[in-house]
This record gives sequence, structure tokens and C-alpha cells, in this order.
Amino acid sequence: MKLMREFRCFLADDMCDDSARNTWAGHPATNRLAPFVVLRAMVEGPVDPDTGYLCNIKRIDELLTKHVAAPLRKSLCETGFQVTGTAVVLVARFEPTARACPQPARLTLLELHASPFMRYAVYESEPSMIELTQSFEFSAAHRLYCKSFSDEENFATFGKCSNPNGHGHNYAVEISIQGEPDARTGVIIPLDRFQKTVNERVIARLDHKHLNQDCIEFSDLNPSVENIACVIWNLLEGHFEPAKLARVRVWETPKTYAEYNGSD
Ligand code: NI
Repeated sequence: MKLMREFRCFLADDMCDDSARNTWAGHPATNRLAPFVVLRAMVEGPVDPDTGYLCNIKRIDELLTKHVAAPLRKSLCETGFQVTGTAVVLVARFEPTARACPQPARLTLLELHASPFMRYAVYESEPSMIELTQSFEFSAAHRLYCKSFSDEENFATFGKCSNPNGHGHNYAVEISIQGEPDARTGVIIPLDRFQKTVNERVIARLDHKHLNQDCIEFSDLNPSVENIACVIWNLLEGHFEPAKLARVRVWETPKTYAEYNGSD
């Protein structure tokens, strides 16, 4: 069984008023603007037959408060709130947090959401590695159809998505890269290099284009969301050395995404 717990907290140096709790909106409470982060812990293990619990979520909150949020707050205050340092702290805190995890639950994933659009993750399987995920967007038109199909076959297969002049989507793309934090800088690759690479190789190529007509990648490839994810993977793979591309997730609508990690 897996159980995920989200823990929301403000990270400033003067917020210890335990009487003002609102764990839904973030704890410790704050009375001024301060960095706000979301932590997520995934635990796995057997369910207790009496309680029905894999792990009491209050114990997970205590675990994250003591072993992740407090050291993170201390580090951020000392480093002037450099977001890059959070990756190093997250990697450093994974094993102590995993050791303190209430048995028989096992900590298998620790995430830090620095914003709704950027998160770090450390997995039990590779605890020295950090995964960075950032969201990007582009808008594009496409038409779903196969050249080898008749108009009737295309319409039967793709419906209105096969209308001859196409239609548009606002695509949201989540790019994940994974690597070890550099001993000197604390980052897997500089954030600006990561963003510049995605912007130049993907967003500039696809944004405000008609994918079938304007993009050579789709001249013989149906621009389904699955194929868009593959094309983006191929545009980015090998461009983040020494980090590696870990995952490409493309949201075509708020109800549909395709994800590709380089395997079949
Ligand atoms: Ni469409």
C-alpha cells in the first residue's frame, strides 16, 4: 500500500506560534509574507488490521516538521533564501527522515514543491539523486489525421479532431531532469540553463505554430499528445549533461496528459 501526505509550511525564522494552527493553509502560521513550500511524503507498507492505517498521518507531519521543514528553514535563513540550496537539503535529509519514519511504513519519495510549477523529488531507489521538475507552456494548433486514411476513416477515428483546418490547445509541459547536486554549487545543472534549453529547443519551436504545417517533426507524424511527448523527449534528450532527462509529461487539456520516459 502507498500513502501520500502533503505538508504545507511557511519557511521563515520567526514563526513558532503553535496556538495559531491552520494545517490546511500552512503551518507554522505566518502573519507576514514568507516563503511557502509544500512537502510531500510517500510511504509504503502493510496496513495495520486493527487501525486500518499504513501510518498515522500525524506522525508523518511530525516527521516532516522535525526532519525536513526545520532544517530547510534553518538553511534558507542562513543562505538568504536561495532556492537552489533546497535541493542539497532535500537530498541530505532523505536518509535521516527515512530512518525516523515510523515502522513498518517506509519512506519511498520525498518532494518539495518550491512553487506550483517547480518541484524537487528524492526517491528511495536513488537517494543521492535529485529530480527537478518544472512546468512550461505553449499554445499550438493541430489536426489529427493519417495520410493513408480516407476522409471517412479519419473522421471515424479522430472525429472533430480531424477537421481540415485544425484546432488549438494550450499545452502545459512538465520536464523532469535527474542528477546529483554539484558539490560546489548545489544544483544538478543551473536553473537558467535548464530553462533556456527548454525554451530554445521546445517552446520556441512549437509555440503559436500549426504543428502539422509549421513543424518538420510532425510532417509525417500525427501530432497526438502521445507523439508530442515523444518529440519533446527527442528534442531534449542529451542536452542537460551531467543531468539526464527523466520524464516528459504533456497536458493537452486539464483532463488529459501523456507521459514519456524514453522507454516504450
Ligand atoms: Ni486536439
